[in-house]
Amino acid sequence: MESKTIDMLIEEAKKILPNSYAPYSNVHVAAALLTESGKIFHGVNVENASYGLTICAERVAVASAVTAGERRFKAIAIVSDTPEPLPPCGACRQVLAEFANEDMLIISHSIKSGKTAVWRLGELLPYAFTQKHIEK
Ligand code: THU
Repeated sequence: MESKTIDMLIEEAKKILPNSYAPYSNVHVAAALLTESGKIFHGVNVENASYGLTICAERVAVASAVTAGERRFKAIAIVSDTPEPLPPCGACRQVLAEFANEDMLIISHSIKSGKTAVWRLGELLPYAFTQKHIEK
C-alpha cells in the first residue's frame, strides 16, 4: 500500500477523534477502515457507565461498513491519544479476521508521540479462527 494511502487513512481517523466518547478511561480512539471496494468507514470508542459495555473504535467502524453492505476489508488506521500507537485489542482482531485476509494492514498512530506502527493482521492474530474452521 502506498504511503499516501496510509497517511490519508490516518487523517480520516484523526478528523473524528474528537467524537470519541471516553469519559471513564480518558483514552480516545478513532478508526478509519478501508474496504476492498475503496470506501472508508469511521468509528470511535464508545464507553459506558457499565464499563464492560464499552465498544472499541475498530468494531464500530466494522459495524458501520457491514451495515452499508461492505464485507471485505483492506486496511484500518487507528488513531489514539496514548503515548504509543495502540495495538488493537484481541476482540477487535478476531472481528477484523471475519472480513479480511491475514495481509490486511493494521496502521496505528499516536497523536501524542507522532509515532506510527504498521502490522499485518496475520502477525497480530496468527492461526485465526474463521468460518472455514466450522465447515463440516
Ligand atoms: N480501545 C479501542 O477503542 N480500541 C482498541 O483496540 C483498544 C482499546 C478503547 C476501549 C476503551 O474505551 C479505551 O480504549 C481504553 O481501553
